[in-house]
Amino acid sequence: SRPIIIDCDPGHDDAIALILACASPELDIKAVTTSAGNQTPEKTLHNALRILTLVGRTDIPVAGGALQPLSRELIIADNVHGETGLDGPVLPEPTFEPQPCHAVELMAKVLTESTEPVTLVPTGPLTNIALLLATHRELHSKIDSIVLMGGAAEVGNWTPAAEFNIYVDPEAADIVFKSGIPITMCGLDVTHRAQIMDEDIEKIREINNPVAQVTAELLDFFMIYHRDPKWGFEGAPLHDPCTIAWLLKPTLFASINCWVGVETQGSHTLGMTVVDRYQLTDNPINTTVLFDVNRRGFVDLLVERLANY
Ligand code: BDR
Ligand code: CA
Repeated sequence: SRPIIIDCDPGHDDAIALILACASPELDIKAVTTSAGNQTPEKTLHNALRILTLVGRTDIPVAGGALQPLSRELIIADNVHGETGLDGPVLPEPTFEPQPCHAVELMAKVLTESTEPVTLVPTGPLTNIALLLATHRELHSKIDSIVLMGGAAEVGNWTPAAEFNIYVDPEAADIVFKSGIPITMCGLDVTHRAQIMDEDIEKIREINNPVAQVTAELLDFFMIYHRDPKWGFEGAPLHDPCTIAWLLKPTLFASINCWVGVETQGSHTLGMTVVDRYQLTDNPINTTVLFDVNRRGFVDLLVERLANY
């Protein structure tokens, strides 16, 4: 199975990405590291431990990462994810401890020890990944690719131009997109098409095992923010699970290989991912950008995996 490291900021959709990954034997989760983003670094770390406790994967090493973005104040999304970062369900308290080291150290250890290249799967701001790439050049060759949730070719969700994960730490995202490591970008173009509807949530509830139950309750809470008619959504976009679904079943997605750059200065466009979809520049292609998903197939995959718990 494919070795991966998940760097996340749970966060409802991060939690569902973890739950989906843990239910998938095709993936070998070597570590889970946490970034500051949806909530404070203390809370996202605690939430990752709670989710892995819920799914019985206390064997996976976990480590907390950077306390703030590379050169900016931390912005959190408590308006989306609530006071705890995972408001809604009652979650177990962790039954295990994080590793006594920094996320970057844990990632470096996994890469060093791995006999095959490892895929990095960041679903939060890219601070930890950027620190890893900047401080461990010698390990770049041990990274297969970076499959990230972040960015948008078209519109943002935090500012008119920027998606949240990139906006929180644009300097980190800039380092990642310039690294030369192959990137798959699951941005808003695709995640806004990966919506989960009320009837899907009911199906998940009916599975009636403890993990599916918590997932349904996470989704109930996540729906609240996305019901605002301004979004024009019928359901809620399952951003972060798109990364895992892409690894499991790439045929569900449509993609275009493009150059992507990150705006680190614009007065209106800070944190924007500039996607050269029509090859209007000579900038070298660095990213597989996902633009579309078979929504039905995506939701069916999630439901099928949840039923295995
Ligand atoms: C991203 O921001 C966070 O709120 C979600 O967890 C997701 O990673 C979507 O813009
Ligand atoms: Ca996230």
